[in-house]
Amino acid sequence: MAAFGTVFTPEMIISRFNSNGWSTPEVVASNSINLHPGAHVLHYASTCFEGLKAFKHADGSIYIFRMEQNVARLQQSSALLTLPKVDTAMLRQMILDIVKRYAVDVPTPPGSMYIRPTHIGTEASIGKAAAPSLESMLYVLLSPVGDYFAGGSKALRLLLEDNARCASHMGMVKSGGNYASALQPIIKARATVNADQVLFCPNGDVQETGAANFLLFDGNEIITKALDSSFLHGITRDSILTLARDRGMKVSERELTVDELLERVQKPGTEAALSGTAAVLTPVGTLIHNGKDYAVGSGTSDTTNALRQALNDIQWGSAEDKHGWLTKV
Ligand code: PLP
Ligand code: COI
Repeated sequence: MAAFGTVFTPEMIISRFNSNGWSTPEVVASNSINLHPGAHVLHYASTCFEGLKAFKHADGSIYIFRMEQNVARLQQSSALLTLPKVDTAMLRQMILDIVKRYAVDVPTPPGSMYIRPTHIGTEASIGKAAAPSLESMLYVLLSPVGDYFAGGSKALRLLLEDNARCASHMGMVKSGGNYASALQPIIKARATVNADQVLFCPNGDVQETGAANFLLFDGNEIITKALDSSFLHGITRDSILTLARDRGMKVSERELTVDELLERVQKPGTEAALSGTAAVLTPVGTLIHNGKDYAVGSGTSDTTNALRQALNDIQWGSAEDKHGWLTKV
């Protein structure tokens, strides 16, 4: 299977915003866009995006998971980046139309069609370093995918990093700049301690990794950081917390310090996992801090596996969609 996100359908759907409002969405080739070299996005990073998935059920029908939440989050990211306001009804329809057009290319489980709505500031104005782009482009790319992490759901090694992933008021925005600022520590962690990901913990506060949220399972309790502006409000995180509550687990959304985390993972039976659209729910086997490896619990991932299965069962159509998370295409 090709690396995650490297294969695209030949077409995408696009709409442009200018003083006349949004253009009627059109299906165009997905391998190029026409952009002025002075476009706002290329200089001042006015870009945000979403990641959601469409799944093929056993009868061949296609369902998109939690589309409304992703559409709402793109709307929110656009607002926080002062990009033009996204027409949510239009975006919803763009997603449905392009996925429908490529329904035959949606892989069967465990694969899926990864959907990448993207919103960029296109106004050609390099003087606007401190002013918004009044023109933009919104497009929806599709990429048939398998596992995000190369080892499937092999337990990950995470390096605890003292610095923040991004500016603390911007973490909740799914913007390109946040990924750019996290890249160097991630590359360094791979090269120096063979880590798969970095867990950003500024001032000893356990936040998230570069591409997923962090969850700790201790007995019947799930502990994860309470929502604030400093990190991405993952939709998978919310789904897993909901499924955990359904099973009678105690959900604690609160501050988790590095000290508490390292103490708790040394108990047998503790588990940790990363949640995200691409990551799904992937177990964490090792935390690396101050040059020392901390094995998480006794190496079991029963709770992680059970919750991932419960999520997949809904996505793949083998369990009832009790929370109304699926939209039929
Ligand atoms: N945090 C970051 C930085 C991410 O890139 C992602 C992936 O989208 C997540 C968290 C998880 O968000 P979601 O579950 O909505 O995909
Ligand atoms: C997602 O999970 O949708 C993301 O955006 C993460 C990305 C690295 C693929």
